[in-house]
This record gives sequence, C-alpha cells and structure tokens, in this order.
Amino acid sequence: MYNYLIIFVCFMSFVAADNSLPEDFTKCRQKDTKLNECLKAAVPDALRRMKKGIPSLSVPQMEPLHVSGINIESGAGPVVITQNYRNIALHGLTDSVLTSYKADLKNYRLRTDSITPKMEFIADYVMKGRILVLPIQGKGLANITMVNLVVKHDLIGEPVQRDGETYMHIRDYRVKFIPQRVLLHFSNLFNGDKRLGDQMNLFLNENSDLVFNELKESYEKSLSTVFQDVTNKIFDSVPMNKIFLED
Ligand SMILES: *[C@@H]1O[C@H](CO)[C@@H](O)[C@H](O)[C@H]1NC(C)=O
Repeated sequence: MYNYLIIFVCFMSFVAADNSLPEDFTKCRQKDTKLNECLKAAVPDALRRMKKGIPSLSVPQMEPLHVSGINIESGAGPVVITQNYRNIALHGLTDSVLTSYKADLKNYRLRTDSITPKMEFIADYVMKGRILVLPIQGKGLANITMVNLVVKHDLIGEPVQRDGETYMHIRDYRVKFIPQRVLLHFSNLFNGDKRLGDQMNLFLNENSDLVFNELKESYEKSLSTVFQDVTNKIFDSVPMNKIFLED
C-alpha cells in the first residue's frame, strides 16, 4: 500500500512538471496549412475558458482581470494630467474575437487583431491637471469604457531552451488601441462638487477623442505589460511544441 502511495506521488509530481495546455483547449498544428485560421478560433476560445484563471499554470482570473496600478504623467499638449489608478478591474476581455491572425513561428512572431465589443476599465483614481483651459482634479472611482475596441497585437518572441525543451518566451508585446467610442466617468471630481463634476464629465465625453488620444499611449504601455505577463505564464511553462503541435 505504502509503495503504491509513493508511486502515485511521484507520478503526480511528474505530471505537474510536465506542463501542457488544459485538455479543453483547441490545439493547432504547426504544419496545418490553415494554422492561422485554427489559431483565430482557438485563442478566443481559450480566453473564454480562462475566465476564472488556470491555477496549474498560475494564469490569473481573466474576468475581470485585475491590475494593481497605473501611473500616467501626461506632458505638454492640450491634456496635461497626472493620473494614478489603483485596484484596476478590466471587464469584457474574454468577449473578444479575433479578426486576423498571422503566426510566423520560424521567427517566433505572432500578430493578431482583436475586437472587444465593450471593455470597461474600472479603478480607484486620483488625478490633477488641466484639459484645454479647464483645471481638473478628483479622487474617486473611474469608469473608462471602450466600445468596439480594436486592438492590434504584435508579439515578438524568442526561443528559450530548458530541460531539453524549447519555450517561446515573449520578450516584447506591442499593442495599439483603436476604440470606436470611449465613454468616461469619474466620480467625486472637485472634492465631490456635483455641479462642477457633472459639467466636467460632460465635457470629457464631448471631447473623448482628444482626451483618449492624449492618454492612449500610457494605457497601451500598461496593458501590453499585462497581456505579456499573462501570455508568458503559459508560454514560459508549456513547451512551444505543446502549444503549436508539431505533428
Ligand atoms: C461603466 O460605464 C458604462 C458606459 O457608460 C456602463 O455601461 C457601465 O455599467 C459602467 N460600469 C460601472 C461598473 O459603473
């Protein structure tokens, strides 16, 4: 009986060390002439199966996805605001679909375009600065909602050899955000002055293209780091030929 237990324990640790994608993920074959088509369907399907995370791969919960914080120092231009976001929750990522996929596995490069019908960025915020000629300051809850958000992802990877296996580590993850519409709401602006706060929220939404464009790069930079971390949770622990099957 005792021997059986030891064998069982050894077997379990062997399984844990030999990471692979969860059973229910669709796997695509490297040699498939329709590899891109396969990935275009498999990746958003995997994302939906990751809503609660994957504990065995340390993949965090994806719906909502929690991000600790973002600091934005906006320089010159019409929008000069120092913003600090904490306890960020991103809702809606798992509803994304992919409109194109280009896998260049020989060069460890993946390019894909996604569209997210509604991505809500909810966070505690502190901000201070000015927009055009108007001063703005506040501390409360922010809701930045992007409608029909197109994201262009460019993943630049490199092979990493470990224990006789090749892993595709993503060393650079670039994103571009192209939302069709951005809705902004900041609670408790101007120390809770309701009239000033309502006016500013109205003003921000009337000028949301301008406001978003000034802040876009900071959001892109912060979120690309988040996407890179999540991707590498999988890519650094599952060998490349178990993500993109060799035969
Ligand atoms: C955020 O704003 C969007 C658009 O106005 C709204 O649909 C959504 O319910 C808001 N979310 C929260 C948590 O307030």
